[in-house]
Amino acid sequence: MDRIKIVGGERLKGTIPISGAKNAALPLMIASLLTSDRLTLKNVPNLADVNLLARLLRNHGVDLAVDGKRAGPAVHLGETFHLSARDIVDTVAPYEMVNRMRASFWVLGPLIARCGQAKVSLPGGCAIGTRPVDLHLMGLKALGAEIEIESGYVYGKVTGGLRGGRVTFPKVSVGATHNVLLASALARGETVIENAAREPEIGDVAECLVKMGVKIEGIGTSTLHIQGADRLEGVVHTVLPDRIETGTFAMAVAATGGEVTLEGARPELLKTALDVLAGTGVEVHETNSGVRVARNGARVEPIAIETQPFPGFPTDLQAQLMALMTTANGTSVIRETIFENRFMHVQELARFGADIQLHGDAATVKGVNGLTGAQVMATDLRASVSLVIAALMAEGETVINRVYHLDRGFEQLEQKLSRCGANIERITG
Ligand code: EPZ
Repeated sequence: MDRIKIVGGERLKGTIPISGAKNAALPLMIASLLTSDRLTLKNVPNLADVNLLARLLRNHGVDLAVDGKRAGPAVHLGETFHLSARDIVDTVAPYEMVNRMRASFWVLGPLIARCGQAKVSLPGGCAIGTRPVDLHLMGLKALGAEIEIESGYVYGKVTGGLRGGRVTFPKVSVGATHNVLLASALARGETVIENAAREPEIGDVAECLVKMGVKIEGIGTSTLHIQGADRLEGVVHTVLPDRIETGTFAMAVAATGGEVTLEGARPELLKTALDVLAGTGVEVHETNSGVRVARNGARVEPIAIETQPFPGFPTDLQAQLMALMTTANGTSVIRETIFENRFMHVQELARFGADIQLHGDAATVKGVNGLTGAQVMATDLRASVSLVIAALMAEGETVINRVYHLDRGFEQLEQKLSRCGANIERITG
């Protein structure tokens, strides 16, 4: 298993190109199931999760050709995927694949919509919480799908095709919104989704569906009106920049001090997070090419925040913010309201000398004078990168074990950071 070694204390200086968003690329790839035409996606990040989904889609019969710049010694980002689902040869998404990545479950709606049936494994729990799928199933039933659960699999079917319906989600769910939105693209008549998630990645998928021939009103709001189409066309779509990667590097610069331009970043996609950073004393400016983040090295000011669905502070940046706050000039309070168990990083941050107390869904982070390097273990994707941030500001050497979690969601992390002066290397083993 690979490890990452970091010797902390270097300021970050330079430019970091922001990759395409993992959490948009995944549902966009799944959208290819909706048409027999070719869907071309540009700016797809080269990540383990993307490759895993590609395998699942190939299993369903999707033909995938990749061109574009390949990863090499220089930072070349993004690939172009050509996906053609001319014939769906298999409507089963097996346990081994869905269990490894929850977004695989989102093939359920599109497969029922296109083929009238699907058998998709229940994803099960994961490190950050129980993560049920009741809202996905509720939404698909509202479009006429018959759903049964047996032996760990969801069996979905519909005779005569899905029809539009009204779905009012009792709770905001990114995945359930994607699943129902994708399914409704081929449903007869109008679907209305109320209390839809407003994450920009959902907007990106909706924009792509519009190009493919679906009429959608309310993109970016919590009520979507979708007029399904009989057949969708092949189109070319560019994946939007990754706001979580942007926020992560912004926090890394805040942690180490220095000055970095996050090239291609779109600040409006993470306004709340950038406002929080600015409130702690970090300089954050929009530039022609992205976002510039700078800090002179003084300790940041503490904060009190809670995670919320978009446009609130994202749960996917909670761990990174906590790492930054470990050396703040006072005590911060961070509440996690989306997932019940997303504090796996707390124990690992303590190994650096952080002072964090957990009380239910809240963490109290007392800023310490400095961190010291340690042996730590990556647990989930965002928790892992919070350890990278801690290591960059810690004195001495850190070794992060189980870095495959990082490879799931950060394209060329070491290259991007080392080009800005970080002392970071991968130890392959
Ligand atoms: C998406 O997960 C993201 N994944 C997550 O990013 C992100 O943390 C999360 O949204 C919240 O923003 C992808 O986009 C691939 P949810 P998702 O459904 O869709 C509950 C990362 O690191 N819920 O919005 O699975 C659920 O338990 C990942 O990139 C139900 O109760 O999240 C949670 O408490 C991690 N019933 C809340 O809703 C359901 O049927 C929000 O979950 C579905 C969800």
